[in-house]
Amino acid sequence: MAASPLLPKTRAFLWKKDKLLLLDQRLLPHKSVWRTCRTWQEVAGGIHDMVVRGAPAIGCVAAYGAVLAARRKALPKGFDGLLKARPTAVNLRWALERMRKVWEQGGNLEHEAIAIEQEDREANRRMGEYGASLVASGATLMTHCNTGSLATAGLGTAFGVLWMASRQGKLKKVLATETRPYLQGARLTAWELKNEHIPFELITDSMAAHLMKTEKVDAIFVGADRIAANGDTANKIGTYALAVLAAHHQIPFYVVAPMSTVDLYTATGDRIPIEERRIEEVVMMGGRRLAPHGIKARHPAFDVTPAGLITGIVTDRGIARPPYIDSLAFLIKDTRPALTDAAA
Ligand code: MRU
Repeated sequence: MAASPLLPKTRAFLWKKDKLLLLDQRLLPHKSVWRTCRTWQEVAGGIHDMVVRGAPAIGCVAAYGAVLAARRKALPKGFDGLLKARPTAVNLRWALERMRKVWEQGGNLEHEAIAIEQEDREANRRMGEYGASLVASGATLMTHCNTGSLATAGLGTAFGVLWMASRQGKLKKVLATETRPYLQGARLTAWELKNEHIPFELITDSMAAHLMKTEKVDAIFVGADRIAANGDTANKIGTYALAVLAAHHQIPFYVVAPMSTVDLYTATGDRIPIEERRIEEVVMMGGRRLAPHGIKARHPAFDVTPAGLITGIVTDRGIARPPYIDSLAFLIKDTRPALTDAAA
């Protein structure tokens, strides 16, 4: 596979040596506003408030947050503060552990943060190529949430597969779910697909079953926030429902994530912490209250798809197949880049 510097049109964050700029994703697609972070607290706030979101992007910006903390002599406190910003995406812990090791050894933190960002961009390219090898000509693919340039340092995870399949001329269209309640699909993925000239239709989450039954959906590609050692996968709320529907309709269901999302310290999905967010995001939409006042509501922001519903996990080191307990452990130990399919 030829290494090509595929750079996305959109960037979620920009490191400027003494500050980190975050594109405020809460305002997209209608306004592009960059927020400036000069302290680790501003970076942690940006992650917590979802100015920046998406597991790999959170890891990258947390690494730069640690650089800012070191400059103000605020380590190790800054590590702990950044780690608390969001609980589910393990890339945050993964990046901060890397930064902590370099700090403890007196190494160059800025170099390490830049390496984390560059590695993620390269991982995106590899996943795009591995994932696109699974796509047949004329395919209709379904995706969920936002997994593109706004969620990573590069082309994205699942989005990178859509991008690559489209550039290879194999894609008929993408069906993109709106992703209630935070609408990452309607606001962010639709914007990125439009910008990249990828044919797509936006659907509400509740239309997925009907379209799987009445249209030929060839495969579903989603991202991940944490993959347990056995392959159970936490991703945006609604992912589990899509996987159940995919199994019913015999549609291949793929998770796409870099190895930094694989958490071998978490044995199974029931050990993954699930973020509960504000119920205002459920009872309101676009700043307008829809549900009656004084009611109870729930907002688990992620769910866990059992490994048994996942056809394959596309990583930057190859495609893991069940049983994932073996294939993921094999890929994580393996440092050779050229694996294509790690059937255990
Ligand atoms: O709450 P978010 O928007 O941070 O959730 C994002 C997702 O669930 C993505 O699917 C996941 O982080 C993978 S992104 C490459």
